[in-house]
Amino acid sequence: MTAIKLEVNGETVSHEVNPRESLADFLRERRNLTGTHLGCEHGACGACTVTMDGVVVRSCIVLAVMADGRKIETIEGTRAIELMNVIRRHFHEKHALQCGFCTPGMLTTAHALLTDEPGADEARIRSVLSGNLCRCTGYIPIVGAVLEARAAYHRGDEP
Ligand code: FES
Ligand code: FES
Repeated sequence: MTAIKLEVNGETVSHEVNPRESLADFLRERRNLTGTHLGCEHGACGACTVTMDGVVVRSCIVLAVMADGRKIETIEGTRAIELMNVIRRHFHEKHALQCGFCTPGMLTTAHALLTDEPGADEARIRSVLSGNLCRCTGYIPIVGAVLEARAAYHRGDEP
């Protein structure tokens, strides 16, 4: 086992982890942060997307030991972020989810995109979200929700 110390959703935590344990398993099983979903477990579907030091990563292909000394944010840590709440509201209003399995990853990716590129157009949103696979719906409501959220955030609408 290897000792790691990191920040998870603003809280500094220390754990002993298996050197081969993924960050996704660490978050789900040791921190009970089950909003980080596991689909493919080999970096292809985006269900496990979280941020590490503000950068979007696929937590199934990041080892927990690689997160030592880093700041991790999961979907549970974003409740007070205004832009994320605007995106959430538009996912809800636009029916941009069915089973919801992909949704935490979609939200995390969309939030990172609109943070880094507030003017991202539809083509850019489609391109970036294409790395997050939704098994049960089309991408039209998802992309529509992100576009609506972008506009609402720029207008200063309430989340
Ligand atoms: S579960 Fe990590 S990318 Fe699919
Ligand atoms: S809403 Fe079911 S996988 Fe996307």
